[in-house]
Amino acid sequence: MNKDLLIEQFQRSGQGQVFAFYDTLDVAAQQQLLAEAAEIDLAEVRRLNETLLGHGAASIDLEDLTPAPYERLPINGGDAEAWAEATAAGEAALRAGRVAAFTVAGGQGTRLGYDGPKGTFPVTPVKQKPLFQVFAEKIIAAGRRYGRPLHWFIMTSHQNHAATEAFFVEHGYFGMAKEQVHFFRQGRMPAVGFDGKILLESPGHIAMSPDGHGGSLRALDRSGALDLMEREGIDILSYFQVDNPLVRCIDPAFIGWHVVRGSEMSSKMVPKAYAGEKVGHFCEQRGQLVVVEYSDLPKARQEETDANGGLRFNAGSIAIHILDRDFIRRMARGTGDASLGFHRADKKIPTVAADGSPLKPERPNGVKFEMFVFDALPFAKNPVVIETDRRDDFSPVKNAEGNDSPQTCRDDQLRQFARWAKAAGATLQTDDTGLPTVTFEVSPLFGDDAVSFAASWKKLSPPPEISAGLYLE
Ligand code: UTP
Repeated sequence: MNKDLLIEQFQRSGQGQVFAFYDTLDVAAQQQLLAEAAEIDLAEVRRLNETLLGHGAASIDLEDLTPAPYERLPINGGDAEAWAEATAAGEAALRAGRVAAFTVAGGQGTRLGYDGPKGTFPVTPVKQKPLFQVFAEKIIAAGRRYGRPLHWFIMTSHQNHAATEAFFVEHGYFGMAKEQVHFFRQGRMPAVGFDGKILLESPGHIAMSPDGHGGSLRALDRSGALDLMEREGIDILSYFQVDNPLVRCIDPAFIGWHVVRGSEMSSKMVPKAYAGEKVGHFCEQRGQLVVVEYSDLPKARQEETDANGGLRFNAGSIAIHILDRDFIRRMARGTGDASLGFHRADKKIPTVAADGSPLKPERPNGVKFEMFVFDALPFAKNPVVIETDRRDDFSPVKNAEGNDSPQTCRDDQLRQFARWAKAAGATLQTDDTGLPTVTFEVSPLFGDDAVSFAASWKKLSPPPEISAGLYLE
């Protein structure tokens, strides 16, 4: 685009400050700044400023909320026959090559404070495998089991794209065929001050950040990933986050529920551990499935109980979904009125002072705009929510210490390995939380659930002693 025209558009939109230092930059830096500015949809920024920053900013609609129905696990009273039917349907879809894995890995991971793409973070107890390797091996295991190697789509950000790809090259794609692994970048949004003015991160750079995991729908379309899926006969995408090594990346029962119900988007829930647990809540609202974030559901409602004394809104979202390819396309293109809205997040955004010197704010000084993938649920036909056992699906690494940290995640992996080993007849000591007294590790290629573990274990003769440092592969 013409440089003068672009600058003029920004000025007319009241965003001329973006070019405040333009004349002080060298030619290359000027080009860079212009390219960043050209990425910005000014009309969208104006709309977001009006709807999310203005005095009349829309508040969250909490009218008519009821708990969403979900499919209980058979051990909790669910219909065992229906689960078996779903599992068979999921296995058939996998054998037919209809399924691919999808990891959203474009986040900034600020809470963990780790230098590098989060997927490269070492997470397993003995081998210190990075998160990406754990997923790769689970995906390989599923491919072997169903006789169809799976494709894996990985969404990165501008910030971590090159480092992520380089990491896979360096590690030989962790045993996957390189043609099966596809990286693409998500979109970005400019950050604005509380006055709606786009912020500069430095004199030559706009403060841009990833557009949220909901940006994955647009990015899947724009990057050609959906076309590739179509060419390969893939119509089911198994979505999970980069920070959760416990996730069953490929779960036939989950896939099967999605298929049997003719669902466009399906989700897993866990019963909340306690009223104030920081997870989204699956709810129904005027006939639609919605997720209401913990920060949006008033405390009194979080604590409401049902006739049995349990939490009324007990269905916690753990960010595991199945998405239908054509549904993603519809959402990405905003056909009809189906499109994701943005949320605002108030953040400390490094920026520049009037003289161009760096400013590191100590409290939030502006807003980032993000889309959330679960906002697609109300637009999905026949959405289905199924229950899962948290111990076998969810232990994210979010924080450097405390809850959801490398330590809690490592312990949860160990508890899972110990459960599988005990169920297969191995002897080992655990404490009363199920944590084994020795640190050992199971490769997903040895076993990725109790059944596959038991099958591999049976083949070992004699079976090894479960001792410190044991690695079963
Ligand atoms: P989080 O909500 O944990 O955000 O992302 P984050 O940016 O990774 O971490 P913090 O909040 O800065 O500490 C949940 C999942 O969504 C992905 C993340 O990579 C993670 O897998 N995500 C998040 C994206 O892919 N893009 C985004 O823009 C945001």
